[in-house]
Amino acid sequence: MKIFLDTANLKDIRAGVELGVVDGVTTNPTYIAKEGRPIHEQIRAICDVIDGDISAEVVSTTAREMVEEGRSLARIHPNVVVKVPLIPEGIKATKALSSEGIRLNVTLCFTAVQAMLAAKAGAYIISPFVGRLDDIAANGMDMVRDILAIYKNYGYPTQVLAASIRGPLHVLEAAKAGAHIATMPFKVVESLFTHPLTDKGLAQFLADHRKVFQEVPVG
Ligand code: E4P
Repeated sequence: MKIFLDTANLKDIRAGVELGVVDGVTTNPTYIAKEGRPIHEQIRAICDVIDGDISAEVVSTTAREMVEEGRSLARIHPNVVVKVPLIPEGIKATKALSSEGIRLNVTLCFTAVQAMLAAKAGAYIISPFVGRLDDIAANGMDMVRDILAIYKNYGYPTQVLAASIRGPLHVLEAAKAGAHIATMPFKVVESLFTHPLTDKGLAQFLADHRKVFQEVPVG
């Protein structure tokens, strides 16, 4: 499963790249606003830091404007994937932009039938929001499983990106379900490394070694 960072923060993206396990980035208008730089500049800077798919979201709400905005975002860098909301105008824009060869991430997906519409329109990625469904006492991961089943039934090539991921259990469930990608904040990536028995075991190994050899060799 590909791991994407869900952020527009360059420091977090650099840290993720150093770990060697991050394959791409998803941004949204909230994340871009947090960094305080116009979207074109910030996305360009992200593309300089990581070589992988970078989702950049439109802020217009009519298909005509989304198409114009999407074309302009796609021109920033070949790795840019244009993100549009799953509303009728967004689906129209997906159809138009995908027919021009532009890759689309259809976002704000909360049902499997919405995801079917995105695939029919030619989406490259669908983003079901797992955490936000869990927040309202629905099962976000059931939606991911339903989407994967529907896409398999009809051979849709659209990749399923589990979004709104809140912790390591979401990552585990997304991977077990067979999601192609999970996007998460940097702190969730860090949490994937963590286990108290790993830390305890390492401390013990080093202490045992030190008892005999006095110090840990360097290099
Ligand atoms: C998806 O691409 C969104 O940016 C993101 O996953 C939303 O997550 P949130 O529900 O934690 O805001």
